[in-house]
Amino acid sequence: MLVLGVESSCDETGIALYDSAAGLLSHALHSQVAMHAEYGGVVPELASRDHIRRVVPLLREALAGAGKMLDDVDAVAYTRGPGLSGALLVGCAFAEALALAMGKPTMPVHHLEGHLLSPLLSGDPPSFPFVALLVSGGHTQLMRVSGVGRYELLGETLDDAAGEAFDKSAKLLGLPYPGGALLSKLAERGDPGKYALPRPMLHSGDLNFSFSGLKTAVLTLVREQGDAVDEAFKADAARAFQEAIVEVLVKKSLKAIKQTGLKQLVVAGGVGANRQLRATLDDEARRKRFRVYYPELEFCTDNGAMIALAGCLRLQAGTPAKPAGAFAVQPRWPLMDIAAGDAA
Ligand code: KG4
Ligand code: ZN
Repeated sequence: MLVLGVESSCDETGIALYDSAAGLLSHALHSQVAMHAEYGGVVPELASRDHIRRVVPLLREALAGAGKMLDDVDAVAYTRGPGLSGALLVGCAFAEALALAMGKPTMPVHHLEGHLLSPLLSGDPPSFPFVALLVSGGHTQLMRVSGVGRYELLGETLDDAAGEAFDKSAKLLGLPYPGGALLSKLAERGDPGKYALPRPMLHSGDLNFSFSGLKTAVLTLVREQGDAVDEAFKADAARAFQEAIVEVLVKKSLKAIKQTGLKQLVVAGGVGANRQLRATLDDEARRKRFRVYYPELEFCTDNGAMIALAGCLRLQAGTPAKPAGAFAVQPRWPLMDIAAGDAA
């Protein structure tokens, strides 16, 4: 079965071809980051227009990369939500119209399910069940993943997402949007012992997170520095922020591992690209004898491959494909709405 995947929930347009037997055949991606950087954040209307410009060339690129023709495609999977409504509508309209014209069915996919399953794209994938730490620009959740569609929420952020905290703190330090990756680069040059920032909810006893206080602590630090904000200060502040957020993410992940008794941790979402997070988790995994899996770096952030994969796995798991022609997206869509939980 050959599934075409379409991702357009935010500021990346992704198209991919996933084959149930051969795996990922190709994927094509366009990031709008440079376009939005000028405005300090994603401008939804510009995002939608750019998705429109990109989908067809990216489809051609993906087909050529896989050596396939549209006729070979058995189903079209696309991100139905959550995300920006206008951006989602572009991918939805494109995927539904394409499927309708080809006489093929569609498979609407939950964006976070794509992230959760993305480690399965790797050459050395985890097996079910595993704990997933989902850390993106919009979400921070710890989940128990027992199988396709079998997700149990263990904990989540009560306010800002981890990526959002990275981006907002980066902005406070004068870095352009989206600052997460830039902040982490800057942090590498910082002194870890210079400033101590709070570790919100570290001892809350549950698996929930809160990051808005941490961002406020960065703001306070910047204000206290006044006119003396220079490159060295920025690097030290970035390091202090990163030390704090990584410690909270790692400690809560360890708690989830202990609580579930599982031996595999999957880290998904854009913040999963963070080097300090990876190094600390790898270290803990060696000491505590569990394994950590990361999607390939290119599949950590938004992409079409994870949507094609999720669509294909859904179809294989028996979720019925939809007749093409629907035109509905779900900008707000809790992952738990599609999860059967861990019934076993
Ligand atoms: O998963 P993703 O591409 O988009 C969402 O679905 O939200 O994640 C994007 C987020 C952004 O907040 C970005 O700043 C953050 O991931 N990010 C990072 C790094 N690379 C991307 N945060 C920390 N360290 C990084 N190296
Ligand atoms: Zn995402």
